[in-house]
Formats: sequence, C-alpha cells, structure tokens
Amino acid sequence: MPENPQPASSDSNYKGIILAGGAGRRLLPLTHGVSKQLMPVYDKPMIHYPLSTLMLAGIRDILVITTPRDQAAFESFLGDGSQWGISLKYAVQQEPKGIAQAFLIAENFIAGDPVSLILGDNIFYAEGLAEKLTVAAKRTQGATIFGYYVTDPERYGVVSFDASGNVSDIVEKPEKPVSHYAVTGLYFYDHQVVEIARALSPSARGELEITDVNRAYLERDQLAVEILGRGTAWLDTGTHDSLLDAAIFVRVIEKRQGLKIACPEEVAYRMGFITDEALEQLAADFGDSGYARYLMAALREER
Ligand code: DAU
Repeated sequence: MPENPQPASSDSNYKGIILAGGAGRRLLPLTHGVSKQLMPVYDKPMIHYPLSTLMLAGIRDILVITTPRDQAAFESFLGDGSQWGISLKYAVQQEPKGIAQAFLIAENFIAGDPVSLILGDNIFYAEGLAEKLTVAAKRTQGATIFGYYVTDPERYGVVSFDASGNVSDIVEKPEKPVSHYAVTGLYFYDHQVVEIARALSPSARGELEITDVNRAYLERDQLAVEILGRGTAWLDTGTHDSLLDAAIFVRVIEKRQGLKIACPEEVAYRMGFITDEALEQLAADFGDSGYARYLMAALREER
C-alpha cells in the first residue's frame, strides 16, 4: 500500500457518509443483481462521483452504507480507502426506511462529530465547487444544504424563500411547489443531527425524511442554504434516462477537456492525501491503460 502523507491543511473535521442503499427499482432489470451505485456512469462506477465530492470537501473519514446484499461488492471494490489516503468503513441498512436513518445507523461512526451525507446517486460538477464545499465542511454550527433551480421541483425537497431571501420553508415533494429550488442530496450537519434524527417519526410514505431533519435545523434558526448557480451540473441517476444523460454529460466534458470528472486517484493527489510516489504506484496498478496514462499526466503536470 502507498504511504500516506500527513493530513493536508484542506482537511475537514467532518466525517462523511455515502448512502448507497435502496432497491434501485426504477433501474430494473439493471439492478437485479448489482447495486445501482456500482453501475457505470460513462467511464467509472457511480459511487466514484459522490466519493470524490466528499474528498473535495476535505473529508477523509467516510462510511459507506449499502444494502445487505451489496456490502461485500462495495468492500471488495473500494477497499479500506488507504490507496486514496482516506479511511472507508462500511455499514448496512437492512431496509430502505429513509435517508435520515443513515444517522442512526452511523451513530457510533459519527461519535459526536459534524458529518456530511451524500446520496450515492448524486453527481455534482461545477467550477468553484470545491471551495464552496470546503467552506461548508469547516462550519462548526448548524446545517448547510444546497438549493438548485430545476424545472420539476415537485420531485424533490423544495426550499422557499421570503422577500428578504431568507429560507421560509422546506417541503418534501410538494404537489404545488412554491419555488423552483430543489434541495440536493448533499448535506452538512453539526453534532445535533443524531439527536434530531432520533426524534423523527416516519412520514406518510413510511420513511425517516431528510427534509424533516432540515426543517428541525430551520426551526432552530441554524440552517444555511447555499445556492448552486446556473453554471453547476447537479445530476441524479435514478432512472434509465437520467443514467444515460449523466454518462453523456461526463463523456462530453471529459472528451472536450481531456480532464476527468471524479477520478478519486487524481482528487486524492491534488488534495494532498497521497504522495507523488503513491500516485505513480496507483498508475502502475492500472497497467497499460488510458486511465494509467491519465494519472501519470496529472503527476507530470504537478511536478
Ligand atoms: O436527490 C435529492 C432528493 O433526494 C431530495 O431533494 C429529497 O428531499 C430527498 O428526499 C431525496 O429524494 P427521493 O425521495 O427521491 O430519494 P430516493 O428515495 O430516490 O433516495 C435517494 C437515494 O438514496 C437513492 O439512491 C437510494 C438511497 N436511499 C434512499 C432511501 C429512502 C437509501 O440508500 N436508503 C433509503 O432508505
């Protein structure tokens, strides 16, 4: 295993959770034997995208929550994270009883620290995103969530604002949304989140709702909503069409620029999580492949 460098100054004291459970029913029969979050999005598995997002926020201590069926596949695929200078641990969600259940499953892992949760099927891509994430991942009090203008807000948690631009409400999948701002699947919470999740009751659809967690922070006047502007791509990948759209998006950008979106080896290197030698070793492990050549080019560029 490559040797890891000392923690970089960009490190956050937040822990990270990737929620990669769920039945993936809308993707059947693709998901009949394989987890949705291991499906390819163009040139890499879906989980590399949320994983890279957390790493870009400076988060190095990450719990991956999967279904009981898929845990072994994730563990053998991602390992303990040391190859990327991070720590990966694994936990199981027996049944998909809601996104907020992640905090109860992860209670021991969180151990009173602040924590960021990202949904395993959410892809973020934007200039300046890393800076925004780093700011959120350094906040010590309250919660930070992200609003994104969409044409179909009724499919999401929706955040609305009063005349002064302050958050007035958050509603899960409202029939008649009063704003176009969807809440994305990336959340930053302080130490209160476990206590808040524990006090929740299941919603009408039988789930512990993440929107109820956000409402609790709003009621405490401790909720920050950052808007991701029009230069941002926020994609979810839960249907056949959105999965293909995301793959096409990644392909277009990567081919045009020759730069990869969500390459964990490159992110680890640029964040200072791994040394030059470690990156070189990772590239060697990829043999005579385009991916190996890409990693070596990243190394040469930095040197
Ligand atoms: O994508 C952002 C939206 O995610 C937010 O705007 C909504 O407020 C939030 O509730 C959620 O919306 P959905 O209800 O549409 O999420 P979905 O049930 O599709 O779950 C999102 C991902 O999380 C999915 O990949 C499966 C995983 N999941 C979901 C649940 C409910 C789990 O791993 N376990 C679960 O219990």
